[in-house]
Amino acid sequence: MTEQLTEHPDTAAVVLAAGRGTRFRSATPKVLHRVAGRSLLGHVLGAMAPLGLGRIVVVVGPDAGDVEAEVAAWADRLGRPVTTVVQEEQRGTGDALDVALAALPDEVSRVLVTPGDTPLLRPETLAALLAVGPEAPLVMMTADLDDPFGYGRVLRDSDGRVIEVVEERDADDEQRRIREINAGMYVLDRAVVAPLVAALGSDNAQGERYLTDVVGALAASGAGHGVPVLAPAEEMAGVNDRVQLADAAVVLRRRHLEGLMRAGVSVVDPAHTYVDVDVTVGAESVLLPGTILEGTTRIGARCTVGPSTHLTDCAVGDDAVVHSTRADAAELGDGVEVGPFAHLRPGTRLGAAARVGAFVQTKNADVGPGAKVPHLAYVGDAEVGAGANVACGVVTVNYDGREKHRTTVGAGAFVGCGTMLVAPVTVGERAFVGAGSTITDDVPAEALAIARARQVTKEGRAAGRLG
Ligand code: UD1
Ligand code: MG
Repeated sequence: MTEQLTEHPDTAAVVLAAGRGTRFRSATPKVLHRVAGRSLLGHVLGAMAPLGLGRIVVVVGPDAGDVEAEVAAWADRLGRPVTTVVQEEQRGTGDALDVALAALPDEVSRVLVTPGDTPLLRPETLAALLAVGPEAPLVMMTADLDDPFGYGRVLRDSDGRVIEVVEERDADDEQRRIREINAGMYVLDRAVVAPLVAALGSDNAQGERYLTDVVGALAASGAGHGVPVLAPAEEMAGVNDRVQLADAAVVLRRRHLEGLMRAGVSVVDPAHTYVDVDVTVGAESVLLPGTILEGTTRIGARCTVGPSTHLTDCAVGDDAVVHSTRADAAELGDGVEVGPFAHLRPGTRLGAAARVGAFVQTKNADVGPGAKVPHLAYVGDAEVGAGANVACGVVTVNYDGREKHRTTVGAGAFVGCGTMLVAPVTVGERAFVGAGSTITDDVPAEALAIARARQVTKEGRAAGRLG
């Protein structure tokens, strides 16, 4: 998916994602909370994609079927072995790594460890951590934060060597003033560090086995010191509650919009444009304020989208105009004009240069090239041929209370205003249906059908009825 930065086939990554995420106050596991179109975990796995790692192991809690499903989806997407291992009891980050190490095959000699809750992490930053020589037993990512509250602080000796990490809750006042924080990302030499991990205790404020205690244990063992790699503060932000989730969303959106703008997309008001990280937009397109583009949406070149347009998992061709529209799982061809106030529901396919106008709803409908549904209509379970005109107020009556039925309108046909097309029914090519008709029988090609009561006009009879 992204360009390969490096190759590290002998290195495995371990993503710690078994924490309960209590601070989220949610029934959903923390790492599955979504931001800018991916789960927190998905952002971390996405950042690992270009690193060429041999394998990725995600530590999950018990009964985390949803997390396992997310991991399986990412394994497909990355085309690499990404597997899960269950940490039965959440006894801390050190315990989580211990469980993961036991699950790794013997040939894995180096281990990259990251939390599952750092969606702002970039591939380049992880690559920098991996680039520190294999002779270092423990490489750790650190950052200088203006507000280090909540993070583990990095303690150094008088020679500047890292000797310990102290958690916020275990730190004294002087230690809390340290602004250099532990980001929770490490590269470990397995042979040196695995025994230290196995020996971790839980004598601390949270009664947990802290992975961070490995840093102190290494220094105390005389086998070396943690090598700090200073990383951009922004990327280290761990998301522990919904306030931090919203903060991360702002950064992710801004980054993605900046990338689009540099690639030739105009974004009139980036603060009010919400584009998920996997959405693509072609050059010379314009995104107007209030545009929300979600999921796998793809927009072609030279389009105008918005204002107030919300597209989820849609594919839009080139030169399209989509105004004030909601669309979900719809395909819009080149040069279409949609909206304002259209609602395209799943299974809608608009051919090139088709037009769908105000207060039109479509669902499971193929609208052919150049066809028009300009106003106030419902087109569901239907096929509208090329160049057909479905006029104002037409309804495909697709549901008989029990089942859905299909409507076909042939190429070049004209369906007059206010017509009910009672499905299953077909209007042939170049046929003409008179306004106000209720069509229950097929109309042959090139025929004229009128299905309405004749008008009765009684001269002078209005008098006396209008109080
Ligand atoms: C951790 C670090 C802290 C660092 C911060 C960076 C420890 C003890 N502290 O704190 O020094 O500044 O990350 O963001 O490591 N997890 C498990 N199993 C567990 C507990 C946690 O898998 O038993 C996972 C969580 O799902 C999470 C990650 O480990 O993805 C980190 O846990 P979290 O509780 O967020 O640690 P922090 O308090 O943020
Ligand atoms: Mg955290």
